[in-house]
Order: sequence, then structure tokens, then C-alpha cells
Amino acid sequence: MRDLLPAERPAWRLVQDAAAAACRAFGYQEIEIPILEPLELVERGVGGDSDVVRKEVFRVQRQTERSAALVLRPEATAGVVRAYFEGGLNQLAQPVRLFTTGPMFRHDRPQRGRHRQFYQFDVEVIGDPSPAYDAEVIEMTWGWLAGLGLRGVSLELNSIGDAACRPAYLEALQAYYRPLAEQLHPDCRRRVEDSPLRLFDCKEEECQPVKAGAPRILDHLCSECAAAFAEVRRLLEAAGIDFTLNPQLVRGLDYYTRTVFEYQQAELGGAQNALGGGGRYDGLAATLGYPATPGVGFAGGLDRVVLALQEEGAALPPEATARLLVLPVGDGLERAAAEVGRRCRAAGSVAVDYSRRSLGAKMRAAARSGCAFVAIMNGEEAARRVVQLRDMASGEQREAGWDALAAMLA
Ligand code: HAM
Repeated sequence: MRDLLPAERPAWRLVQDAAAAACRAFGYQEIEIPILEPLELVERGVGGDSDVVRKEVFRVQRQTERSAALVLRPEATAGVVRAYFEGGLNQLAQPVRLFTTGPMFRHDRPQRGRHRQFYQFDVEVIGDPSPAYDAEVIEMTWGWLAGLGLRGVSLELNSIGDAACRPAYLEALQAYYRPLAEQLHPDCRRRVEDSPLRLFDCKEEECQPVKAGAPRILDHLCSECAAAFAEVRRLLEAAGIDFTLNPQLVRGLDYYTRTVFEYQQAELGGAQNALGGGGRYDGLAATLGYPATPGVGFAGGLDRVVLALQEEGAALPPEATARLLVLPVGDGLERAAAEVGRRCRAAGSVAVDYSRRSLGAKMRAAARSGCAFVAIMNGEEAARRVVQLRDMASGEQREAGWDALAAMLA
């Protein structure tokens, strides 16, 4: 886990502000959910067999082991669906459009673009099965990435069917893979029986030729799933959004039905090239024990989007420090300096240098801080209620009364 230091904040703020603006433009409301969730919720939601739960979830140890096990949330969707029911959002006009941003936790080997504490911008539309919401989520999140000026982002799209058509497809997939088991990596040999869809996540060299010839889910969709997917594609075309059909895109979480999608940026490289992804999850609510309720959503990886922006050399403003620094020179001037600060804050940010170092040292620190003005004041000036106001860019300096300062800085 890493610290995000002030120098990184401007890029993060840009990305997060753009996410919130995109959501508000489409009428999405913000929600906050806890970072801890019951293990059972995550197991049922994300899938007890998924890598995320089997290998990556952080369990929280408690003093008493009598109550249910907790985990640090590896993603937000299961928690948002829980909150939707617990908070009575299912009683409101449907669907409910929600977004949240915050840290998620997955215990994987950290590397570029992959962290154990990472941040997501998460969007969920709960309570209506129309594929128009799939297209809306894509249009909004596509707009978010495009608005940030990221180059080389592609949208990959697939449908993975539903309870009506997926079982027959999985059988076809197993029937294709079983006679070829000898050629597969041991992990994939296990997947053929345990979780056949995960075969498409495999990056092992030896499995690629087998994978390339596997039956395509898009050829096995039932008529409802096929019609819904056609509608998503039509709506994206109407919105002018380019996409690539990727029949091997299955995503790493178990709750998806029908539409799945991912934004990829090749330059990020390797397994970390997904800037975000999502899809429809019409079976999730029932799996969690709530009334069957459809939903669709997306999560963007903020760490990766920030990394992509930095790699592109996007011009970002430096993290702001105080615009005016008050530099009292001499003993016993704290009260006067604090008052100058108080008077000027209406006109912008102000910090006071209360340290005991020399004026020269204070001036050097002020220059390094990047402030626009300094207000220098010794005891005699404090008694007269004036400061020497210096414009750091021009070097121009003049005396200013405390009463006039705020107006001069505005
Ligand atoms: P996900 O694909 O697991 O989906 O994660 C979404 C994004 O989070 C990824 O595309 C990636 O950018 C970022 N991400 C995931 N793991 C890490 C990591 N260890 N370090 C840095 N970034 C990471 C979900 O989480 C679903 N809940 C999305 C969703 C919402 N589906 C429906 N609603």
C-alpha cells in the first residue's frame, strides 16, 4: 500500500472531479458505503470461487470471533446493492442511479498499476433491466475518460448471456476443452471443470491456441440476450461510441449477466491495461438474498487513470499552497500575525510562518512554497497596524494597512 503525497493530488483531483461532474450531468447521486463488509456478502456477490475472493481478499481479525467475519471490500458493487435494500432505495422511483469513489483492497502482487489499496470510481444503476441503461453507463463513463483527454483508450464489449442460455454454452465450452486438457496449463485443467468461463482469463502461452478455437458465447445467446445486446450496440452506435466486440471478455467477478465491457489502454501494458470495466448483474440481488432486482454498473481504476494521464505528460497545475504568507519578524507577534491572516482570508488562502528563523530564511521558504505574496511585519509595523506587502513575481514591495490588505489582494 502506498501514500499519495500532495504532489500527486492535482492529478487525482482532476480525475475525481471529472468523474463527479460526469455523474451529476446524468443525474447520478452520491453514496458512501463502509470499507468493511461481511465476508459472506462478498463471497456471495463476487463469487467464492473467483480469484478476488479465493486469493485476494483481506480478512479483518477481531478480538471476539463470535460475530460474522469481515473483509476489507475488494469492490463496491455488492456493498452498494446491500445499501440499496437496507436504505430503502428500492422504495424510490426506479431505477436508482448511484456513484461512489473510494479505496478498495485486493491482496495481489503489487506492480505498476496494481496496488493492494487502490481507488475506484464506481457507478451503479439499480432497478431496471433495460439495455438502454447499459448504454447510458457506457456513454457516461466513456465521456469521463474522453474528457480527460486520454489517448488510445478502446472499449471492448461482450455479452455473457444469462441463466437461460449460459449453462448450455458452458457445457459446449467444456465439451470443447476436455479432449484438449493435456495441452493446458494445470490451472486451466482445473478451470475446465470448476469455472470454465475463467479459461478466457488465461495468459499462459500453451493455452492460447486452444483458447483461440473455443466456441464463442455470442453464438450461443438466447433470443432475449441477443436482442438486448443488439440494442446496446445500436445505442452505442447512435451515441458515436466506437467499440470492439471481444467474445472472450468475461471479467473476473461472478455476478455478471448479459453486457460486459472494459476500457483498455494498450500503453499501460500487461495485465494492468484495464482502466475500468463493468456490466449488467441481474442475478446479484437475489444471490445476496434480496428480491430479484436488475442492475448495471461500472468501476474505473483511479490509480490507473492517473498513471495514464501522467504518462501522457498532461499539464497539471501544482498543488496549491497558501497564496499569501504572513512573515512576522521578531518576538511576540503571533497575535498580530494571526489577525492579519484572519483579515485576508476572505481574499484567498493565507498561511502564517510562526517559526523563529531569520527573515532571510523565511523569505527563502516563502519562495519555495510558490506563494504569490508575502506580508512582512516587525514589531514597530505591528504597532502601526501595517505590513510590507511584496508581490513575489514582480518583486514590488509597498507598505499596506491591515484594513486595506484584503481589498489589495482580491
Ligand atoms: P473490476 O474490473 O474488478 O470491476 O475493477 C474495476 C477497475 O478497478 C479495473 O479495471 C482496474 O482499473 C481497477 N483495479 C482493479 N484492481 C486493481 C488493483 N489491484 N490496483 C489498481 N487498480 C485496480 C469491479 O470492481 C466491479 N465492481 C465493477 C462493476 C461495477 N461492475 C458492475 N458495477
